[in-house]
Amino acid sequence: MPGIHRHPLSRLKDEIDEVVDLKIPAVLLFGLPKRKDALGSEAYASDGVVQQAVREVKKVAPQLTVATDVCLCQYTDHGHCGVIRDGRVENDESASLLSRIAVSHAEAGADIVGPSAMMDGQVGAIRRALDERDLGETLVMAYSAKFASSFYGPFREAAESTPLWGDRRSYQMDTPNLREAMREIELDVEEGADIVMVKPALSYLDLIREARARFSLPLAAYNVSGEYSMIKAAGQKGWLDERRVALEVLTAIKRAGASVIITYFAKEAAKWLREAS
Ligand code: PBG
Ligand code: ZN
Repeated sequence: MPGIHRHPLSRLKDEIDEVVDLKIPAVLLFGLPKRKDALGSEAYASDGVVQQAVREVKKVAPQLTVATDVCLCQYTDHGHCGVIRDGRVENDESASLLSRIAVSHAEAGADIVGPSAMMDGQVGAIRRALDERDLGETLVMAYSAKFASSFYGPFREAAESTPLWGDRRSYQMDTPNLREAMREIELDVEEGADIVMVKPALSYLDLIREARARFSLPLAAYNVSGEYSMIKAAGQKGWLDERRVALEVLTAIKRAGASVIITYFAKEAAKWLREAS
C-alpha cells in the first residue's frame, strides 16, 4: 500500500512519536507473527508481536489510546479468521481463542480490543473473559457489520492474510443485506460491545447512517485498504486531487454519522487539517 509500512518493534517509537506530534488520539495495532500455525498460537502468546507492541506504545506514549485488532487470520497457516475442523470454520472454538487473544492484549495494556473475525458470540465471550480477569475497564470495539468485501485486497497482501483456499463469505456479511447488518449490530450491543463498527465505510455509508439513527453507542467506520489505495493510485496518475478527494471522503463518512474513523489517511489528514487551520 502506497505510503503505508509495516513497523518492526525496534522502530515503533519513531512512528508513535509522529502520531503523538500530529495529535492523533488513537492507534489500531495489527501484528505479523514470525510463525503461523493451524491454531494461530502467536496471536495469544504473551510475548507475541502485538502484545510487545502494546507495551512499547504505552511506554513511549502513555496518554495515547491503544486499540488492537483481535483475529486469527494473520496467525493461521491457512489464513482464515477461525479454527478449521473438517474443512470448515469451527465457530465456538474460534470464539474461545479470540477471547484468549483479547485477554492477552488487555493484559499487555490495550485500552480497546477489536474483534474482527465475525464469529457468532465472539463479543460476549470476550466481554466475559475480560470481566472474569478484572479487565473490566478494557473496551470492546466490535467489528459488528463487517462485509465480505473485495476492498480488503491491499490489506491482505500487506498482512499476508489471504486465505489459502475458499473465501470469508461463511462468516463475513453479504453486501446487499442492510437488515441483517442492523441485527448483527444489535446482537453485539446485547453482548456488551462498547463501540460498534461498520466496515468498509465508503460503499456502506447508508449503513452508517442507519446505525447512527438506531443505536446510541459510539459508532466506528473503517475506511479500508482498497478505499485508501484507489484514491492513492488515482492521485499518483494525476487523475484525482488526492488531498481533496481524501478529505471529501472522510467528511462524508463523518456526515453519515461515524463517531470514530479508522483510516490509513490518518497522518496525512492530520497534516492537511493542521495546514488548513
Ligand atoms: C482481519 C482484518 C481484515 C481487515 C481488518 N482486519 C481483513 C479481512 O477481513 O480479510 C481489513 C482491513 C482493510 O482492508 O483495511 N480480519
Ligand atoms: Zn481475520
